[in-house]
Amino acid sequence: MTYETILTEVHGEGERGRVGLITLNRPKALNAINRQLTEEVLAAAQAFDADPSIGAIVITGSEKAFAAGADIKEMQPQGYIDMYLADWFGAWERLPAVRKPVIAAVAGFALGGGCELAMMADFIIAADTAKFGQPEIKLGVIPGMGGSQRLTRLIGRAKAMELVLTGRFIDAQEAERAGLVARVVPAAELLDDALKTAKTIAFHSLPVTLIAKEAVNRASETTLEEGLRFERRVFHSLFALEDQKEGMTAFIEKRAPAFKDR
Ligand code: HXC
Repeated sequence: MTYETILTEVHGEGERGRVGLITLNRPKALNAINRQLTEEVLAAAQAFDADPSIGAIVITGSEKAFAAGADIKEMQPQGYIDMYLADWFGAWERLPAVRKPVIAAVAGFALGGGCELAMMADFIIAADTAKFGQPEIKLGVIPGMGGSQRLTRLIGRAKAMELVLTGRFIDAQEAERAGLVARVVPAAELLDDALKTAKTIAFHSLPVTLIAKEAVNRASETTLEEGLRFERRVFHSLFALEDQKEGMTAFIEKRAPAFKDR
């Protein structure tokens, strides 16, 4: 498929450790998220998810903007019935459904839908230039791609409420302190760092990685008791895999494991 609003690349040679990179590419609109970009990001992420040679996915933007929000010019003329019948932003449910790990590498503005897209990733690595915010209130609307829900779960009610009600931006350091981002790195190192992190993940056993992602996600979906029971049961199931034998044998034999995704 040829894309017009994103760029896609595969990083890594050899059979393991390959990473799919998606770069948002609407520079004149600061990567504002319109319908075409939505469909293209989702198609690319699903294609990488289905490609057995890929172990992890990175989504990034430009130096100036990860994404400055949903496309305000596209939304401005819409009425309620247009938004409702199109189930505007509903398609984004397909991104968290991607089973492989997704890292958002964020430099510059990640505002509104841009911040929400970053939060759909499994974790965010931020450049020291990153700025996050949910400024929808200033446009007479509220977050519509998960901002009121994911931000609140990630950083807590008090800070999420303040950001959603004021539209204030926070810098990368404040985002890290709040628990929104996993790590802050110098802007010049952002992409290399994110790709290196993704490659580390992609070298591990794919089924174990998928199960680890599912287990961590379960923590925000269920009670502690149910979550602990789920973890223990899937932990037991890993002992059916050749990769468990290989990982533990390699440790005992003091060598690197050669995982086979089996
Ligand atoms: C459409 C956008 C855009 C957006 C920027 N642009 N953000 N177009 N949708 N979200 C366009 C501008 O119109 C301009 O195009 C070009 O990108 C460059 O932007 P500038 O404003 O000139 O750049 P700068 O002065 O550097 O300011 C950067 C900025 C500002 C602070 C990020 O662009 C800004 O405030 N953008 C909107 C941020 C926002 O409110 N996001 C939330 C959107 S709503 P032209 O053609 O004029 O050069 C949302 C929630 C969805 O995401 C859910 C609710 C429905």
